[in-house]
Amino acid sequence: MLTRVLFVCLGNICRSPMAEYVLRDLVQKAHLGGMITVDSAGTSGWHNGENMHAGTQKMLLAHQIDPARFHSSQVHADDLNHYDFIIAMDDQNLTALHTLFQQLPSNKVYKITDLIPQSDMNEVPDPYLTGDFQQTYDLIFQGCTAWLRQWQQQHQ
Ligand code: 4NP
Repeated sequence: MLTRVLFVCLGNICRSPMAEYVLRDLVQKAHLGGMITVDSAGTSGWHNGENMHAGTQKMLLAHQIDPARFHSSQVHADDLNHYDFIIAMDDQNLTALHTLFQQLPSNKVYKITDLIPQSDMNEVPDPYLTGDFQQTYDLIFQGCTAWLRQWQQQHQ
């Protein structure tokens, strides 16, 4: 059975596209491309149709991940049914998802930092404001690695 993952941030040009491309890369390297699909969306819709931020592209390219073929999109109310996991970047994203979905089943909707309790961060700071795309990548890589390890433990 296919597992569908949606990463969510505010603009869908910095953090959630990075998480989408990093997890898809990990999935492909683990030869699980037929088992897991990965998408991303923003709560705002402000950048619908746009490419990802140059800072995100630069981080992906630095890790040999092709950032091509991205188009920003907005979260949709149907996403709660369609996806098995909806993984947000910060508390503001969770608040917006709560407004959209009314309910947030905690086994399906959570923050990526919940996957890395050993980290001292409980959100992924917005690099659109901080400019620190390295910090974004480090947290997202740890979170995606932890998510895939958990999936593999549950499906072996
Ligand atoms: P993201 O970052 O949520 O990680 O994509 C942002 C991108 C754009 C804006 C805010 C955050 N903005 O205000 O346009």
